[in-house]
Amino acid sequence: MTKNRSIAIDGPAGAGKSTIAKEIAAKLDMIYVDTGAMYRAMAIYFLSLGLDGKDEAGICAACGGADVSVIYENGAQQLIVNGENVTPRLREEVVGQMASNCAVYGPVRSKLVELQRELADRTPVIMDGRDIGSVVLPNAGLKVYLTASVEERARRRYKELIEKGETCDIIEVEKTIADRDYQDMHRENSPLCQAEDAVLVDSSNMTAAQVVDTILDLYRKAVAE
Ligand code: CDP
Ligand code: CDP
Repeated sequence: MTKNRSIAIDGPAGAGKSTIAKEIAAKLDMIYVDTGAMYRAMAIYFLSLGLDGKDEAGICAACGGADVSVIYENGAQQLIVNGENVTPRLREEVVGQMASNCAVYGPVRSKLVELQRELADRTPVIMDGRDIGSVVLPNAGLKVYLTASVEERARRRYKELIEKGETCDIIEVEKTIADRDYQDMHRENSPLCQAEDAVLVDSSNMTAAQVVDTILDLYRKAVAE
């Protein structure tokens, strides 16, 4: 049987998943699927309806009205919701918070998992998120659980925000990350966890380049040989 050539990367916020996945996608000429962006796109839709993230009934009832699709422009993922390209708004803080809230609900997850599997059925992908190795692509040729200490992840996010010219407090950034970790790890539906057959990579003391090399080595051993 041919080996599955897709790569699943899971881990908490700020672990470096998207940075590393983009780099590996370019090196292996694969499509990078950012599943967090899909939850963020759904979040934009729910926010546009004025829904509260804790309004389970409202969110579940509205879920079917969101027509989410993904297109690639020069390798970059674009999220389209009901005909509108929402990509420029995906990284807004309020969107991240709503994404984490709406990701708790089963109907939201089922809808997006279906879309994610359709993308991976077409071609080998490198996909990152929280439940890729455990739920979305259980047969991925390589599964990585990428993490780093909460302090290091907060330092990385803080640096990003400062570079963007935003004023923020590192203690607040760390608290937001810790709260998001808790919510992602303790929800009932597909909580963030390390799949049994995933390789743990702790990047607390690694540069992005070192992480990329480590994962490429693992991939060659797991799939290419
Ligand atoms: O970039 P960051 O790590 O902050 O988050 P993201 O990957 O953009 O994901 C936003 C939120 O969507 C996360 O906090 C998760 O709650 C949720 N998510 C999920 O539940 N499952 C996924 N496969 C991807 C994201
Ligand atoms: O996708 P995720 O939320 O896991 O993290 P990211 O957005 O890829 O990375 C968060 C920040 O950490 C970015 O500014 C990266 O450049 C940085 N980073 C780092 O400093 N060292 C690494 N080994 C990986 C990422």
